[in-house]
Amino acid sequence: MRIGVLGTGMVGSAIATKLVRVGHEVTMGARAPDNENAARWVAEVGEGASQGTFADAAAFGELAFNCTAGTASLEALDVAGGPNLAGKTLVDVANPLDHTRDGPPMALVYDGDSLAEQIQRALPKTRVVKALNTMNCEVMVDPSRVPGGGHDVFVCGDDPSAKEQVVALLRSFGWAPERIVDLGDLTAARGTEAYLRLWLPLRIALGTNDFNIRVEGRPQST
Ligand SMILES: NC(=O)c1ccc[n+]([C@@H]2O[C@H](COP(=O)([O-])OP(=O)(O)OC[C@H]3O[C@@H](n4cnc5c(N)ncnc54)[C@H](OP(=O)(O)O)[C@@H]3O)[C@@H](O)[C@H]2O)c1
Repeated sequence: MRIGVLGTGMVGSAIATKLVRVGHEVTMGARAPDNENAARWVAEVGEGASQGTFADAAAFGELAFNCTAGTASLEALDVAGGPNLAGKTLVDVANPLDHTRDGPPMALVYDGDSLAEQIQRALPKTRVVKALNTMNCEVMVDPSRVPGGGHDVFVCGDDPSAKEQVVALLRSFGWAPERIVDLGDLTAARGTEAYLRLWLPLRIALGTNDFNIRVEGRPQST
């Protein structure tokens, strides 16, 4: 599949690399067509990897990932262009974080709303699925990094077929089907984004990024 990855940070790079490794063609998008991070990534990955603007990546992809800074995602997606993303699934991995104060960032929480829902309203013809934002990017693309057995990844979104597409990609990243939890419609992103208020102190307390949520108490399958 052709996939656009919007974002040149560690998340964009980890996801784009994994996507190429599992057989997709990826264009990494940035504000500038010659972004240095994206150029380094293309040089490292080689065949299957290309770079461009946010609009180039959005137009290239049959599906796209939003891996931009959460506080800039609406701006980045506006530049990417609604028509370039219309009819496509957009996997929103972003978390809106406030970096303006001293010390660790603070997760922004919107009363009765979420970044994912804001993106969905801005792009009504795009099928937004929130996923993967509740863990470090290296865990996203390699769940075996977390020791101690199974742990969970969440998906939510308003379009069932878009969620199926995302589940298939997660399976290709190494996620076991029983560890992919469908939380329902996009309003569940309010919870997965707010969870960053716990994830950030947990990272400090545990001194590692290689941890994740394991949901216990699920009904036994028959
Ligand atoms: N780090 C993790 O492990 C992790 C885990 C879960 C979720 N997340 C979320 O994933 C997203 C990406 O994180 P990251 O650490 O890889 O990168 P980041 O530094 O949060 O974001 C980098 C991207 O945001 C774009 N950007 C920044 N300001 C912008 C603006 N004013 N207008 C348009 N685009 C702008 C940059 O564009 P240019 O390329 O043009 O510079 C770049 O592509 C974030 O929302 C983060 O909260 C991160």
